[in-house]
Amino acid sequence: MNVISIKIPVKITLFGEHAVVYNKPAIASTIPVFINILGRSIKEKKLIIEFNDINIPTKKVVLDKITNTYVLVPNEIYISRFISYIATGLDICKNELQITDEGGYEIRIESTLPIGAGLGTSAAISVGTIALCVLLSYNKDVEDPSIRKIIALLAWKTEQKVQGMASPMDTFTITYGGLRYIKPWIPEAEYINSPNQLNIIVGYTPKKFTTAELVKNVKNLKVKEEKIIEKLLDIIGEIVEEARDAIIKNDVERLGTLMNVNHGVLEALGIVSLDHSYIIKTLIAAGALGAKTSGAGGGGAFIALAKNKIHATLLKNIAEALGARIVAMELYEKGFIINNDSSRVLKDLIV
Ligand code: PMV
Repeated sequence: MNVISIKIPVKITLFGEHAVVYNKPAIASTIPVFINILGRSIKEKKLIIEFNDINIPTKKVVLDKITNTYVLVPNEIYISRFISYIATGLDICKNELQITDEGGYEIRIESTLPIGAGLGTSAAISVGTIALCVLLSYNKDVEDPSIRKIIALLAWKTEQKVQGMASPMDTFTITYGGLRYIKPWIPEAEYINSPNQLNIIVGYTPKKFTTAELVKNVKNLKVKEEKIIEKLLDIIGEIVEEARDAIIKNDVERLGTLMNVNHGVLEALGIVSLDHSYIIKTLIAAGALGAKTSGAGGGGAFIALAKNKIHATLLKNIAEALGARIVAMELYEKGFIINNDSSRVLKDLIV
């Protein structure tokens, strides 16, 4: 049976998280950290998922498929959220693309990142699942823009269904790759041509809440203080426009200042954790041009802008000494790709 292997980058939000859920623009980029998804169609009506992941103790899960719904095994709470992105993605793909095949899927996830690192890991799983489903059913060219668009849209739908609320930022960035200006009202992810590589560090600390919970916290705050929170979201939208301009003009000092201001607004929205407040302040004291929480918050990912490569290494050492894990020091140019190394895939896949 045909085996497909997909290499999916995760992403970092440079500007605009949370406000993007309320239709404001955002800037995000893929980074060179990857999740691999391998899979094939099987005759049995089952969903078999194997995790080759240092963070997940359970190695293999078999789910029975009843009609069009995959029933989650109740005692697999630890990985049930992870599985729900895969099961929901397959369901959405089959329904939307009217795939009538009655069989199931055998899938392997390979990752070294914790599920909730705040680097768009759930979006990477959603994009990978949809791409796998599309490729297994229709042997289409995923470089075709209309196919990429379908994958981005269905992956976004998957995130919305699992999380309740989600912007297209993560799924579109991971589908298309590179530095992207997100217009959620279309939805579209416009490529931003940055004249130079930014000297950055991207890291994370343990995330204490799910993205869904953090998005809900902001929503509740907005219900309580509607006028003020709407103004803060508008300000984030304005920061994004200025940041886009600063990137295009290679004005890194201004970009850093805008990062700090964006971080301040995220603090006001109440999603910045204590460890992040400390790390961000320390990095700025160490000369970072700017630094901010990135993504949903509650711990999770952060980004800092250094003056040059040597300074970036200094900032990396400081952040690691404060307990963070640094995963990238540059942005990545691409979205997901299909691995062509089929010999390895065929030899290794679960049977
Ligand atoms: O932390 P992440 O990578 O899950 O990013 C969440 C970004 C939010 O803007 C908070 C939510 C969204 O759907 O855009």
